[in-house]
Amino acid sequence: MSETLKRRIRTRRAKVGILGLGYVGLPLVVEFVRAGFDVTGFDVVASKVDALNRGRSYIPDVPSSAVRSALKRKRFRATSNFDLLAGMDAVSMCVPTPLSKTRDPDMSFVESASREVAARLHRDMIVVLESTTYPGTTREVLAPRFQAKGVVVGRDVFLAFSPERIDPGCWRRGGSGSGRTSSSRSRRSAWTRGTRSTASGTRRRSSAGSPRPARRWPPSSTGAPWTA
Ligand SMILES: NC(=O)c1ccc[n+]([C@@H]2O[C@H](COP(=O)([O-])OP(=O)(O)OC[C@H]3O[C@@H](n4cnc5c(N)ncnc54)[C@H](O)[C@@H]3O)[C@@H](O)[C@H]2O)c1
Repeated sequence: MSETLKRRIRTRRAKVGILGLGYVGLPLVVEFVRAGFDVTGFDVVASKVDALNRGRSYIPDVPSSAVRSALKRKRFRATSNFDLLAGMDAVSMCVPTPLSKTRDPDMSFVESASREVAARLHRDMIVVLESTTYPGTTREVLAPRFQAKGVVVGRDVFLAFSPERIDPGCWRRGGSGSGRTSSSRSRRSAWTRGTRSTASGTRRRSSAGSPRPARRWPPSSTGAPWTA
């Protein structure tokens, strides 16, 4: 990562963009605001954007009071205007990857979100893919799209993979109840252990203790009933 970007992050001047304001994206918004960053949330569903800008959360793990507090402190806004991505320094992609009939992840959301980001890439920007997907997605899907814009990944812009492991409703580990894998080996095992059920909307077992019963929530990871 460049010194410029590191400094912006250390001093909390980095503007954070979260793409996809669902079960993964919205808790992440709240955590970044708590950590002292200005956060812009992007979603394609206008009713979600409106609800958030009115201070109303639709995610059980995120109290509306947390959204209202972020709005009041002018630390957060939600939008469907992807041009605002151009002003972001750090972008987390939290879009769905539902399973297709053949049990492969539907990559269309990742692809469309990465197109929006690629069109507004700038030097010293970091993009983090949070969606559950197969190992190699950043290298095979995102990096070529970014390089086609004339930037060098790893020198001009930075790309990382950080699959979320949110366990909705589980607060045992403090904060949002989420954790992250830290190596490609754990990424691979997380994928093989959990992706198939998680991407279809059935939540993973808690990694903090005894197995919890699988939950189907929401009924579809494409966001119903919010689907426009
Ligand atoms: N929620 C969990 O517990 C959990 C756990 C592990 C992994 N994941 C993974 O995280 C990813 C997101 O899951 P989720 O549960 O938050 O999904 P979700 O359906 O709750 O939220 C995704 C959001 O992305 C929005 N979206 C779709 N296309 C978009 C685009 N092009 N630009 C901006 N926003 C867009 C949708 O409108 C929706 O609000 C998936 O890959 C999922 O498998 C989720």
